[in-house]
Amino acid sequence: MELQESGLSGIRKSSVLGRELFSSSAISKRVAELGREITGDYKDRDPIIITVLRGGTVFLTDLIKHIDLELSIDFIGISTYKSSPQDKTTGVVKITKDLEEPVENKDIIIVEDIIDTGLTVAYLLRNLKSRYPASIEICTLLDRNVKRIADIRIKYTGFTIGDDFVVGYGLDYKQKFRNLDSIYRLNLEIVKKEIEYTADTQASNL
Ligand code: IMP
Ligand code: MG
Repeated sequence: MELQESGLSGIRKSSVLGRELFSSSAISKRVAELGREITGDYKDRDPIIITVLRGGTVFLTDLIKHIDLELSIDFIGISTYKSSPQDKTTGVVKITKDLEEPVENKDIIIVEDIIDTGLTVAYLLRNLKSRYPASIEICTLLDRNVKRIADIRIKYTGFTIGDDFVVGYGLDYKQKFRNLDSIYRLNLEIVKKEIEYTADTQASNL
């Protein structure tokens, strides 16, 4: 049977959406590959998959269906506060929702939608390491390494992308478009002014 993209024809007509970068079927195929790779690497272990709210949740729910292990899942909420929209520094990172379970002696896999500067995940790594887990690895659907600031090692990457701001499959622009099953570029012509604002106040996209 041919793979069908979901309808959602109304939201797909938004002028804010640029061209499709990754189709639903390309994403499904890659997510299944990642799941199989993790299954092989964590043989005889029961990792805990920690997902960063909210963007990583769509990826997580698909990914775990391809990991053949007795895993568990947990969620963490993080927000970044900046002194002003012009503030290009790290700002103050804060946990808005902590994990439900202790992670001492556990094998953690952090699941992220996209890693950009890497500052968010670097903060998370520091925070989780202080709880004495057995190991921590990172799995991100998208890696935009052109603006990387933090020195981090990503074990599992779905796709590497360029400078485009992207939406869909959990990723938002002003909290919208998370429900699209494909990944699109944002139409820069239409949102140019807004995107500069968004880049400066990334907390709203976490
Ligand atoms: P970092 O701390 O710069 O690595 O920022 C990572 C976070 O910023 C991601 O978890 C996303 O929530 C958000 N983000 C970065 N780029 C995009 C994008 O292109 N679309 C939607 N959200 C993004
Ligand atoms: Mg995020």
